[in-house]
Amino acid sequence: MPSLVTSSPLPAMRLLKGGAVALLLSGATLATPQVLATEISIACGAGDSSDYCPALAEQWAEKTGNTVNIITTPNDPTEKLSLYQQLLGSQSSDVDVLLVDIVWPGLLDDHLVDLYEYLPADITEDFFPALVDNNTIDGRLVAMPWYTDAGLLYYRKDLLEKYGYEVPQTWQELTDTAEAIQAAEREAGNADFWGYTFQGRAYEGLTCNALEWVASHGGGTIVDGEGEVTIDNPQAAAALDLAASWIGTISPEGALNHTEEETRGIFQSGNALFLRNWPYVWALANSEGSEVAGKIGMASLPHGPKGESKATLGGWNVAVSRYSEHPALAADLAAYITAEPQQKAHAVKMGRNPTIESLYQDEQVLASNPSMRDLYETLVNGVPRPASVTGDAYARVSNAFFNRTHQVLSGDLDGASAVQQLSRELERLSRRGW
Ligand code: GLC
Repeated sequence: MPSLVTSSPLPAMRLLKGGAVALLLSGATLATPQVLATEISIACGAGDSSDYCPALAEQWAEKTGNTVNIITTPNDPTEKLSLYQQLLGSQSSDVDVLLVDIVWPGLLDDHLVDLYEYLPADITEDFFPALVDNNTIDGRLVAMPWYTDAGLLYYRKDLLEKYGYEVPQTWQELTDTAEAIQAAEREAGNADFWGYTFQGRAYEGLTCNALEWVASHGGGTIVDGEGEVTIDNPQAAAALDLAASWIGTISPEGALNHTEEETRGIFQSGNALFLRNWPYVWALANSEGSEVAGKIGMASLPHGPKGESKATLGGWNVAVSRYSEHPALAADLAAYITAEPQQKAHAVKMGRNPTIESLYQDEQVLASNPSMRDLYETLVNGVPRPASVTGDAYARVSNAFFNRTHQVLSGDLDGASAVQQLSRELERLSRRGW
């Protein structure tokens, strides 16, 4: 057993629970091996090809001499959130570090440590200020920004060229082009070919898609910056009705249950003309073995008759549970995952958009994915979901929005009734205060 060090000779040395001592260099490699290895549990993604979290956690373990226990969690953020709410609600110490969606800081902040208590005050200096603000609740930094996301349109360059169509600027053009090329491809023998694939399951991803439809029709952002419910308007209703017309025509019935990965699968196997998804698809769809490698392009999403293109802002952050028995070490792992070299590798290998501003000037990063340079504007002008303004009511707001939208897509409700009912529901929620 190492002797118990009670007064630390180094400012960065901390006494951990149980007497273990660790050198905390906030994301940097530890120079000296630790006195005692500690196991840190981290809730990563689904552990599939789009999940870089396990690899980074293992790297940190190797560098610091600690061990990590990787917990895989569902990719569907709505399912992931309910798992977290159970764990955190029971004050479980089973998870030390967790990946947090950009819309969750206001929902989970009571369960997360203030990272400024464990990391240097300038730890967020090089990060996009808007993301740091998003993660700072009542002056507490509850998560380190890891990567940023914005909705994009992927298209088959080869097929648009073959049939003589342009990249669509409006949703109506997308609908018409999808219809025409789908019919031609089916005629040519590809019975499984679809015009458009998007995320239509009743979950957070549908909130992202539908917010883009509504906002790009000039229909607002569900709840505005002042907390006013704005969803009951004709542009929003028209946007939802147009999306409903896609089901069973240019999009498969299965879209009603699709999340990101199912839609990537359809597109990557060559069975769709257009795909709405996040920047991560670029690297995977162009990788060896992909049916569409070298045949695809990326563009801003279309807009409605009077609106302009809008991309929902997404992204993930790394947080430490308040119930962790090793918060200092857990914060060190969070800092490691989000530190510049790791963000650079994430961008170069997987096309994930960094949250550190200067990486957008890095040649290797820029070369890794067109969204880094060409779509930088889209990324910085993305439309946020109304999470900050609705705070801990956000999950209920989003659930109400995606459930009503799902009813419209399923043909159970028309756009106008949906936005009217939703508006009443949200007004009721807002009366409890947000
Ligand atoms: C992406 C985004 C995230 C969003 C999710 C929806 O992971 O980064 O913010 O909530 O997709 O499925």
